[in-house]
Amino acid sequence: MADTLIRGGTVVTEAGRRRADVICRAGRIAAVGEGLDAPAGAELIDAGGCFVLPGGIDPHTHLQLPTMGTVVADDFLTGTAAAAAGGTTTILDFVGPDRGEPPLQALSRWQGWAARATVDYGFHMTVSWWGERFAAEMEPLVRAHGVASFKFFLAYKGGLMLSDAEIVAGFLRCRELGALPQIHAENGELIAHLQSELVARGVTGPRGHPLSRPPQLEGEATVRAVTMAEILEVPLYVVHVSAAQAAEAIGRARQRGVKVVGETLPGFLAIDASVYEHPDFDVAAGHVMSPPYRPKEHQAALWQALESGALSTTGTDHCCFTKAQKRAGEATFTHIPNGCGGIEDRLHVLWDLGVNRGRLTPERFVALTSANAARAFNLWPQKGSLEIGADADVAVLDPARTRTLSARTQHQNTDFSVWEGREVRGVVVHTLARGRHVWADGDLRAEPGSGRYLPRKPFGPVYGGLI
Ligand code: URP
Ligand code: ZN
Ligand code: ZN
Repeated sequence: MADTLIRGGTVVTEAGRRRADVICRAGRIAAVGEGLDAPAGAELIDAGGCFVLPGGIDPHTHLQLPTMGTVVADDFLTGTAAAAAGGTTTILDFVGPDRGEPPLQALSRWQGWAARATVDYGFHMTVSWWGERFAAEMEPLVRAHGVASFKFFLAYKGGLMLSDAEIVAGFLRCRELGALPQIHAENGELIAHLQSELVARGVTGPRGHPLSRPPQLEGEATVRAVTMAEILEVPLYVVHVSAAQAAEAIGRARQRGVKVVGETLPGFLAIDASVYEHPDFDVAAGHVMSPPYRPKEHQAALWQALESGALSTTGTDHCCFTKAQKRAGEATFTHIPNGCGGIEDRLHVLWDLGVNRGRLTPERFVALTSANAARAFNLWPQKGSLEIGADADVAVLDPARTRTLSARTQHQNTDFSVWEGREVRGVVVHTLARGRHVWADGDLRAEPGSGRYLPRKPFGPVYGGLI
C-alpha cells in the first residue's frame, strides 16, 4: 500500500487541534506535523479548509442480525461500506445467540458473516439467555476471542429479557473476567402489560409503540441497572439512552464515582415522538425502535448530558429494515421489527447539530464519536487517536460542504431513512481505513473483506482506562 499524505488540514483530537499534515504508512499514522514532505510515490489528499479527525467508532451496530422473523437489511458488506462513506472506520457489532444456542457457536456464525466487512470490527455478545453453559463460555469469549463486553436486557419479556437474579449473576461473571456489562434499560414487565392493554383497547398502530414504552420505564430500569452495578462493584455501559430520566441517573451516578458510561444516538437528539403519529404507516413504522423517540423536551436533557459529560459516547444502534419488512407489523405495532438505520449519518448529523450550533467543540465531537468509545471498549490508542503508531483511520470533514440526507442517495441497504430530507453542513469527503482510501469524495472504494477483526482485552480487576 502506498503512503498517503493528508495535507493542509486542521487535525483534531479529543485533546486539541492544530494545523498539520498527516502521513499514513503501512496502515498506521507515521507522522503528524507542519510542512511534511510527501514521501516518494505517496498519494496526496488535499485537506485545505477541512478538519482531519480520527475515523468514527460506532460502538453499537446490528449487521445481518436475524430478529423478529426477518434479517436486518444491511449485512457486513453493505453496512460497513455505508459506515466508510460516512467517516466511520470501526464498528462494534452485537453477536446474538438464539435462545439456548452456545455463545461460542453464535460467535462463529458472526465471524463468517463479518469476513466481508470493509472496515475494522469487534464484537459484543448479547446475553440472550442465561445458564451454566453461557457463564462457562464467557471465559473463552473474553480470554481467547477478545469479546470483552456483554449486553443484558431488562426488556423484551418472553424473549431477551433476563430476571434481576440472572442479571446479578451475569454482572458478577463479568466482574470475574474483567469484561464490561452493557444494559438495555427499559422495564420489560411494564412494557408487556402496557402493550396488551393498548392492543385490547384497539390501539394497534405505530402510535402504540411509544405509549407502551414511556420514558419513566427507561428511567426506572437505568436506576436499577446502575444500582446493581454500583453494589456489585462492576462498571456498566448503558446503551441507547433516550430519556432525560436515564441520562440524569447516569450523571448522578458518575458524580458519586460509579463507573458508568452512557451512550446516546443522534436520532434521540433530533427526532421526536411525533413521528409515530405520521399518517403514512411506512414513515411511522420506519421509526419504530426501542427505546422509542421521545417527546421533544428530552432532547435538551440529552444535549446537556453530552455537554456535561454525563453521557460519553454516541452510537447508531444501526439495525435497519426496508419498508416491506416493517409492514410485518401493519396489523399490530408489537410485530413491527424494532430498529432504525444511521451508520452512515452519525458524524454528519452530530457535526451539524452539535458543532455548527455551538453545542460541541470539535474536540468534544471527537471524544463523542471515537475517542471515548475506544477507551470504554479497550481499543485506545490503536483506535480513536491520531498518535504516531495508531491505526491510520481518518475522516476528512469539509465544514463548508452541505448534503441532503435521503434514502435515495444513501449507501445503507434500505429504502427508508429517519433523516429523509435533512440538510447537514459538514460532510466527510475522505475516509481512510487503516490507511486504505475507502471514500474519496463520493467514490466508495471499500473492498469486501478488507476490514480486520479487533480482539479486545479485558479490563482486569480495577477496570482502569474506562472513561
Ligand atoms: O430497536 C432496537 N434498538 N433494535 C436493536 C436491538 C437493541 O435493543 O439494541
Ligand atoms: Zn437495546
Ligand atoms: Zn442495539
